[in-house]
Amino acid sequence: MKSVGGVAKPAGAMLKGEMAFDPVVANAAIRTMNAAAYTVGNHFPVGSETGMETTVSPKIWEDMAGFEAKLAQFQKDTDAAAAAEPKDLDAFKAAMGPVFKNCKGCHEDYRIKKN
Ligand code: HEC
Repeated sequence: MKSVGGVAKPAGAMLKGEMAFDPVVANAAIRTMNAAAYTVGNHFPVGSETGMETTVSPKIWEDMAGFEAKLAQFQKDTDAAAAAEPKDLDAFKAAMGPVFKNCKGCHEDYRIKKN
């Protein structure tokens, strides 16, 4: 998730027009998110609920099926974005719209705010 946060910044800046569109950066961001979508599930084994410095909500373990459904959607949307290989800003916006919806949707349900 840290890597996702790292690439989300330039991606967000490009979407908001704060940074010039760069297809290399854009597609690298998509690939990082896509890879994270397929590995993040492994970071929450049953039994790792407590003791770590984390913002993971215990709800993940109470509702593993719901979490996995969100994860599957995130995989699907980042797959589609990666396949689209956006080459201009409009295409990038179209590809990232559904991807960024996943972030908020999953964080709202499965992540607790530290303060
Ligand atoms: C399927 C669920 C899910 C999706 C989708 C998801 N996240 Fe997360 N994210 C989490 C959880 C759970 C945590 C808490 C992890 C922790 O504290 O160890 C988290 C934490 C984070 C963090 C804090 C990382 C840290 O180490 O403190 C960032 C940044 C982040 N996510 C960015 C994103 C962005 C950007 C997207 C979308 C492109 C995204 N996430 C999509 C579940 C998700």
